[in-house]
Amino acid sequence: MSKQEEKKLFIETLGCQMNDTDSQHIIAELKEHKNYSVTSDMEDADLIIINTCSVREKPVQKLFSEIGQFNKKKKNSAKIGVCGCTASHLGEDIMKRAPYVDFVLGARNISKIKDVVDTKGAVEIDIDYDDSTYQFAASGMNMYKSSVNISIGCDKECTYCIVPATRGDEISIPPEMIVQQVQKEADRGIREITLLGQNVNSYGRRFSDKREKYSFTQLLRDVSEVEGIERIRFTSPHPLHMDDEFIEEFAKNPKISKCIHMPLQSGSTSVLRAMKRGYSKEGFLKRAKKIRDMVPNVRITTDIIVAFPGETQENFEDTIDVINQVKFDQIFNFKYSPRPNTAALELADQEIPDEIGSARLTEVIELHKKHQSELMNAYIGKTVNVFFDSLKANGEVAGFTDNYCQVFVKGSDDLLGKFVDVKVTDATRTALKGEVVS
Ligand code: 5AD
Ligand code: SF4
Repeated sequence: MSKQEEKKLFIETLGCQMNDTDSQHIIAELKEHKNYSVTSDMEDADLIIINTCSVREKPVQKLFSEIGQFNKKKKNSAKIGVCGCTASHLGEDIMKRAPYVDFVLGARNISKIKDVVDTKGAVEIDIDYDDSTYQFAASGMNMYKSSVNISIGCDKECTYCIVPATRGDEISIPPEMIVQQVQKEADRGIREITLLGQNVNSYGRRFSDKREKYSFTQLLRDVSEVEGIERIRFTSPHPLHMDDEFIEEFAKNPKISKCIHMPLQSGSTSVLRAMKRGYSKEGFLKRAKKIRDMVPNVRITTDIIVAFPGETQENFEDTIDVINQVKFDQIFNFKYSPRPNTAALELADQEIPDEIGSARLTEVIELHKKHQSELMNAYIGKTVNVFFDSLKANGEVAGFTDNYCQVFVKGSDDLLGKFVDVKVTDATRTALKGEVVS
């Protein structure tokens, strides 16, 4: 086959890290099979892709306003594709609302990108489709860190969440494929790898073939044996599956970054029940304490939804109580947003007035800011070990500590790809500043 003429791809990614990785796969596949290279100039692109998120309503509204703008400004011949969770969820309705869209590709169908890209009107959104053994072309955007998907879909039924409807049932990618992929990444110089899935620590629940029991903890052990990989991260885990074996591995395996995401969602046992989260306030606190006790310096991050339907002031105060007890290092806060195809829609008559939701959100944000300042200021004067991975426009070099705190220093690209001791001289709520210890 003769080499195709080079074309330009502009891609915008909304939402979570899974979407970022899916976009990397899209870029790699289109490069390998269709000779596309990425441009940051939308008006110069031959293909415009927006990789969407539907977890809350706002990003969905953003999608339509954005593709409308793209359509006005793009080159005449340029195509527009809508991929990701909103594609799964709205399917061909996207084309009804925006007829200039050329194709729609769901979050579980990313491997079909090379087929739909030249098929005007294609809609691929099957949530039963099994992408779990597809070998994507090699991506390779960052030279020092990257991520690998370990599962697709989600088997949980959290009552507020649209993800099971957009990404389908959970299927684990075979461990040998994951290890092979991680090895490939290590061979091109990657030192830090993030294992990705909607619910990483239920890994092994279902494979597309029959095989022996194999857990997330086992996967962590096997990935940590890959030569060249020095830091392992994973997201998102579910607090329910943080069993003792997992916590022990997390604590004692030196390659595992000591930062863990524990999505609380609510501190109230009755709201957690209505959300179908599967743990209680006490259960969550017990696990968080165990992790803090076993892992000195651990950073714990979380997601919180305020104003879930029926959330009373007392329920909300339980959330505040958990925040005060755990003192999270980072909180991603959300006000409940009713989503189609979710069980919580049945609680519509118990929805919380928006002003109350906003006030609760502000209270969480303010309390968290206070905790963040205390936690970050405690680093000043200490020496931390940093893996530097990027050069900033202002000449600073940025990296992350083992417990995934961002650090900036003055320096050069000599530092990139290295683990270096840094004395912390200053802190903001979200990052540290320091000087390299020579
Ligand atoms: N409303 C608000 N927040 C939500 N999330 C998921 N669904 C909703 C919703 N309907 C949040 C959860 C989840 C994060 C990725 O998004 O906190 O952990
Ligand atoms: Fe959504 Fe719950 Fe699955 Fe997370 S675990 S993706 S919140 S259903």
